[in-house]
This record gives sequence, structure tokens and C-alpha cells, in this order.
Amino acid sequence: MGPKGEGLKVAITGAAGLFGHGLVEIFSLRHTVFALTRSEADITRADEVRSVIRRLGPDVIVHPAGIPDLDQCEADPARAFLTNVHGTRHVVEAAREPMAVRQICSAIFSFSNKPTSGSRLLTSRR
Ligand SMILES: NC(=O)c1ccc[n+]([C@@H]2O[C@H](COP(=O)([O-])OP(=O)(O)OC[C@H]3O[C@@H](n4cnc5c(N)ncnc54)[C@H](OP(=O)(O)O)[C@@H]3O)[C@@H](O)[C@H]2O)c1
Repeated sequence: MGPKGEGLKVAITGAAGLFGHGLVEIFSLRHTVFALTRSEADITRADEVRSVIRRLGPDVIVHPAGIPDLDQCEADPARAFLTNVHGTRHVVEAAREPMAVRQICSAIFSFSNKPTSGSRLLTSRR
């Protein structure tokens, strides 16, 4: 239950991006949204991501932050790997903290946070 007294607490990474911005608008209709831009949580920084997630305590994280442009990725593969692979890992690991997130939806994968099974690929919300 979010501060609005309804819905979930939803943290959205990449909230200034094309997809993230739209997700913020849609989720805000029913849920309490924490719109995370790079200035609040640079996903390449594990400690920063963990600290923000711990402070906000969201029920769900939607994770579209990243570098989707293939030309950019090819031009700087190290940065693309750090952002898209390690950045996503940082978000998933932050969500594993006790009492934290129930569900993570990235642009590609969805993970549950069942302590017994660890993160696993899901096709729908628990
Ligand atoms: N656009 C669509 O219609 C659509 C539809 C379905 C799925 N998707 C998927 O959603 C994902 C995002 O797409 P998009 O179109 O929204 O791309 P986008 O407009 O480029 O947005 C990406 C966002 O990620 C942020 N970001 C990049 N590196 C970051 C970092 N290190 N820490 C925190 N934030 C960081 C960017 O922040 P800065 O502005 O600070 O760089 C930007 O706001 C992609 O995987 C894409 O395939 C997009």
C-alpha cells in the first residue's frame, strides 16, 4: 500500500527516457510512483542504487533505464555493457535486500523476489 492509500509503490528507472516517462504517467494513475532519473540513481553505481531502493522501499521496480541505441552500444561497448548488463544486475541485487521489492520488470526480463527460489524469469506478476 503506497502513501496515497491505494495501489503499490512503484520505482521506475530511466524516468526521463522515452519509455520511462510514459510508464511514470501510466503507473501514476493507480500507484505511488518514484520516478528515478540518472541524478537520483546512476545504475552503474551499485551502492547508489542499493541506497535509493532501501530508502524508498518500493513494492515493484520497473527498469527501462539503459542504452537502447545500438549505434551507441557499438561505439562504446564497455559503457553499454556497464550500463545494460551490470546496471541491470545492480538493480536486481538492490531488490534482493530483505523486506524489499516483490517484483522487478526490466525492458527484457521480469524477476520475482521469492527468497527460496531467488530471482527467476516470470511471464506475469505474482
Ligand atoms: N521507447 C519505447 O517505445 C520502448 C518500448 C518498449 C521497450 N522499450 C525499451 O525500454 C528501454 C529504454 O528505451 P527508451 O526508448 O526509453 O530509451 P531512452 O529514451 O534512451 O531512455 C533511456 C533512459 O535510461 C537512462 N539511463 C542511461 N544510462 C543510465 C544510467 N547509467 N543510470 C541511470 N539511468 C540511465 C537515460 O538517462 P539520461 O537521459 O540521463 O541519459 C534515459 O533516461 C530499452 O531497453 C527499450 O528497448 C522502449
